[in-house]
Amino acid sequence: MAKRVRFGVMGCGGIGPTHCGAINQIADAELFAVADILPGKAETVGRKYDAERIYGSAEDLLADSEIDVVCICTPSGMHGDGAIAALQAGKHVICEKPMEVSLDRCDAMIRAAQHTGKKLSIISQHRFDAASQIVKEAIDSGKLGRIVLADATVKWWRTQGYYDSGDWRGTWEMDGGGALMNQGVHTVDVLQWLVSGQGKVTSVYGQTRTAAHERIEVEDVAVLNLTFANGAIGSITATTAAWDGKPVRISIYGTEGTAIIEGDRLRLLKFKSGEEYATETAAAHALSVAKGGTASVKDDTLIRAAESDPGAVWGDAHRAQFEDFLKAIHEDTSPLIDGPAGRAPVEIILAAYRSANAGISVNLS
Ligand SMILES: NC(=O)c1ccc[n+]([C@@H]2O[C@H](COP(=O)([O-])OP(=O)(O)OC[C@H]3O[C@@H](n4cnc5c(N)ncnc54)[C@H](O)[C@@H]3O)[C@@H](O)[C@H]2O)c1
Repeated sequence: MAKRVRFGVMGCGGIGPTHCGAINQIADAELFAVADILPGKAETVGRKYDAERIYGSAEDLLADSEIDVVCICTPSGMHGDGAIAALQAGKHVICEKPMEVSLDRCDAMIRAAQHTGKKLSIISQHRFDAASQIVKEAIDSGKLGRIVLADATVKWWRTQGYYDSGDWRGTWEMDGGGALMNQGVHTVDVLQWLVSGQGKVTSVYGQTRTAAHERIEVEDVAVLNLTFANGAIGSITATTAAWDGKPVRISIYGTEGTAIIEGDRLRLLKFKSGEEYATETAAAHALSVAKGGTASVKDDTLIRAAESDPGAVWGDAHRAQFEDFLKAIHEDTSPLIDGPAGRAPVEIILAAYRSANAGISVNLS
């Protein structure tokens, strides 16, 4: 067997262990090292997931010449520093969402990947859900016709204790935003990606409120209206104030049919021709979606928990994204979610914040 690709995970808090678990499920990947600046965190996670080396700083992790890929699992406003340093140290990088908290920082990451020739991928694991892949295929193949309406709701619940649990949570500088930038970014990305073959988001009108939590700078309720280049319109509602959490719902209406995803499961794919599918399996067969074993496994318990529990990672799609990234390394191609793809939802969300502040619609370049 070829040498396994060696991973180092930077940040062993909430999401770092998910990266460790995903790496351990992949035959040609090896969890080689973990790092965290908080004493004990890296040791606990490293021991649990069998990492060979444990570091107390990002610098020590990056100085390890035996690491091929670094996973950036630090707070959002630190992603750029970690990713750029890792790329410049000669590592490929998988960076958690959101890519960064400003477009300048995203652009600096993209430039660093270009200059070093190393691969960069930004986590948006729900693009790899079987339901997302099937609906994408139905849109891109033209089966749904011309998309006229695309809407999504992320009606989640986070306690005050969640925001109080880390200095960076709920701050503009390190979280980059609230219900939209932290929790909603997954859905903003999947919605814009699903429609992107027919038209990108061209304008955003946003309204935001900090309505149900204290001691946070950012929004916990947001509603956006979107316009797409093909003339379609859409909306996204994202909140962490919807007690006690409802499944994410994405609905796409085309001139030839309707697709609905709920809690990352396919709920409905129905065409005017009379075809109708209520499960991923049936629809995948009918649409011949080639998933090659990378579409993510569903777990209803995890989907439900993520609506109200920040510790529950929604679905099992990190592994699928890691497999896509390894394929890009082995075949020297682009991962599905490269730097520019990771930047797209950040651009929409930042436009929504500008819109909400100014009370006007904002055009995207
Ligand atoms: N994809 C998903 O579903 C998902 C889920 C949760 C969080 N996230 C993202 O992951 C990121 C981290 O979130 P979290 O909930 O794990 O945060 P967290 O605060 O629980 O963990 C962050 C960890 O990074 C460590 N850290 C900080 N600076 C460091 C440095 N210089 N070197 C090494 N370690 C350092 C901290 O000590 C902490 O343990 C955020 O950007 C968040 O948006 C993604």
